[in-house]
Amino acid sequence: MNSTALAEEAKKEKKKISLSFIQPSGNITLGNYLGALSNWVKIQDSGEFDCLYAVADLHALTVRHDPSELRKLIYQALATLLGCGIDPEKSIVFLQSHVHQHAELGWILDCYTMFGELSRMTQFKDKSAKYADNINAGLFTYPSLMAADILLYQTDVVPVGQDQKQHIEIARDIATRFNGLYGNTFKIPEPYITKSSAKIASLVDPTKKMSKSDTNANAIITVLDTDDQIIKKFKRAVTDSGSEVKMGEGKDGINNLIGIYSAVTDMTTEEVERQFEGKGYGDFKLACGEVVADRIRPIRERILDYMNNKDYLERVAQRGAEQASRLAQRTMDKVFKKVGLVAKPRG
Ligand code: TRP
Repeated sequence: MNSTALAEEAKKEKKKISLSFIQPSGNITLGNYLGALSNWVKIQDSGEFDCLYAVADLHALTVRHDPSELRKLIYQALATLLGCGIDPEKSIVFLQSHVHQHAELGWILDCYTMFGELSRMTQFKDKSAKYADNINAGLFTYPSLMAADILLYQTDVVPVGQDQKQHIEIARDIATRFNGLYGNTFKIPEPYITKSSAKIASLVDPTKKMSKSDTNANAIITVLDTDDQIIKKFKRAVTDSGSEVKMGEGKDGINNLIGIYSAVTDMTTEEVERQFEGKGYGDFKLACGEVVADRIRPIRERILDYMNNKDYLERVAQRGAEQASRLAQRTMDKVFKKVGLVAKPRG
């Protein structure tokens, strides 16, 4: 490597690392998009971070799937990342299972994670209630695999929704414990919780979060909804008995719609109120449908395009896995040394 390349490398080293994974669990909602993915794209495009984005396909095995269905969901999740604007020329994009270091470090971290702390995880408690006939060990150790995902890359920030905060905390605890035993090995990651993520509620019951597992299709907008579907769902959105487009205590329905309009247009909620002064709920719902449809349309079209182009998705995944694996191995080498394993022969 010549000196300019070295200097370039050094400059690159200085950027902070941002990493996040998406579950391959089907269509993401407008809430997921505005709360998570659109922020991932902003972080990527800010140029301030080296970004890694992946599909958590190993984590998906903790619940039973039909194998061909799961494979489809994994391709779809990758297509969704790209369709929402994650650019494999700017970020490292890969499938978790393609980078063997995740499973390896996951096992090692299992040995530094306590039964008691895993038992206290709310997601474990919720999921074992929901899948009572399949409380497998993977469901239990999910957090140490997730810690491995993060710690492998010396990650600085993890942009996630509020629901993942406890997982970041346990990753920090595991890293701190390991560093305490062996000396500095892992960077301690920070959660990067975005404010908007809590805001997007169901269109049918605005006291509930918009959740992709909602059985009522009218409650959620997904990134694959057509323009027509989007407009119709907003027309039917539940609002209270008021008539003014104004935020207010207990007006969950209109508050949610104003929140969505402001998130999609990047306007403040006051600006939205001003724009719709003198207009009724009907006009406002139509306008919401239109701005959301305009925002979703190109994303939907790109996702569908990518889903029809498996070869391309596979090329992206392969290149991403090579890039990620190279970075991950640096941490693995350190970990092997620290815990007392014998360095692997280089093939
Ligand atoms: N647990 C996350 C979720 O359910 C997915 C995930 C797996 C993740 N590994 C990660 C998120 C690492 C951030 C970083 O959405």
